[in-house]
Amino acid sequence: MTSEDVREVLGIIGGTGPQGRGLAARWAMAGHTVHVGSRTRDKADAAVADVVERIGPGHDLHPGTNADVADAAEIVVVALPHTAQADTLPPLADAIGDKIVCNVVNPMVFDDLGPRAVPVPEGSAAEQCQDLVPDARVVSAFHDVSSRRLLRVDEAIDTHVLICGDDAEATHRVAHLASRIEGMWGVHCGPLRNSEYIENVTPVILWINRYYKIQAGLLIDGIERDPEALHAHRAEGDTRAGRKPRA
Ligand SMILES: NC(=O)c1ccc[n+]([C@@H]2O[C@H](COP(=O)([O-])OP(=O)(O)OC[C@H]3O[C@@H](n4cnc5c(N)ncnc54)[C@H](OP(=O)(O)O)[C@@H]3O)[C@@H](O)[C@H]2O)c1
Repeated sequence: MTSEDVREVLGIIGGTGPQGRGLAARWAMAGHTVHVGSRTRDKADAAVADVVERIGPGHDLHPGTNADVADAAEIVVVALPHTAQADTLPPLADAIGDKIVCNVVNPMVFDDLGPRAVPVPEGSAAEQCQDLVPDARVVSAFHDVSSRRLLRVDEAIDTHVLICGDDAEATHRVAHLASRIEGMWGVHCGPLRNSEYIENVTPVILWINRYYKIQAGLLIDGIERDPEALHAHRAEGDTRAGRKPRA
């Protein structure tokens, strides 16, 4: 089976923001079922309407509350502001259970000098998420992907998506999810603790974007752009699982 054959059921918590809508649009276009979540059903309806306006009808998109979405999804995507994670996720922990959770959260603020990474006691937003939903298999991804690029669905994307996680199967599924978006390739970047370094690169990318008036992505030199070849490395060579304690 290739990644082209897999139809995932995705649920995006905080799916009404630009990143949630952008991912919903691209994943729906790739043939997945996407549940778009919000604190209020009206906002979820409006977000789905916005996505449909961009990509056209005939896709498998569903609005819902964050609780509906956590329940319906096979893979739960957390697209909340960092400041909202700690309050939003614990009430959803039972619905999430041991599902795969794809965390896209960047802990960041803007000050006089531009975007700045915010230190997280757990090490990274992804590790904080793991502590908040302890039974889930958290994977960190899409921190380096611009919502503006995702939402401009008629424009081609050409970018690698840096992905890390402690559960080999979960990380592999999310890497394929990235690679099912046209012009994107998921790149395995090690254990979940490496998310700290990926999240902290985002302010640099944003600064570059502002300076050059672009929406840059990352491309890792020398790595394949064929999804099957990319992910075969992980499948054959690296099956480590289990969270490593922080030093
Ligand atoms: N924007 C990008 O280009 C980009 C790129 C990479 C990663 N990210 C990361 O992805 C995440 C989402 O980004 P975004 O720009 O889409 O964020 P956002 O618009 O600020 O927030 C996303 C959604 O979260 C919900 N939310 C906001 N405050 C909340 C609160 N206090 N409690 C519970 N829910 C709350 C809102 O949905 P409802 O009001 O409908 O509940 C909102 O639409 C962030 O962590 C960001 O750092 C963003």
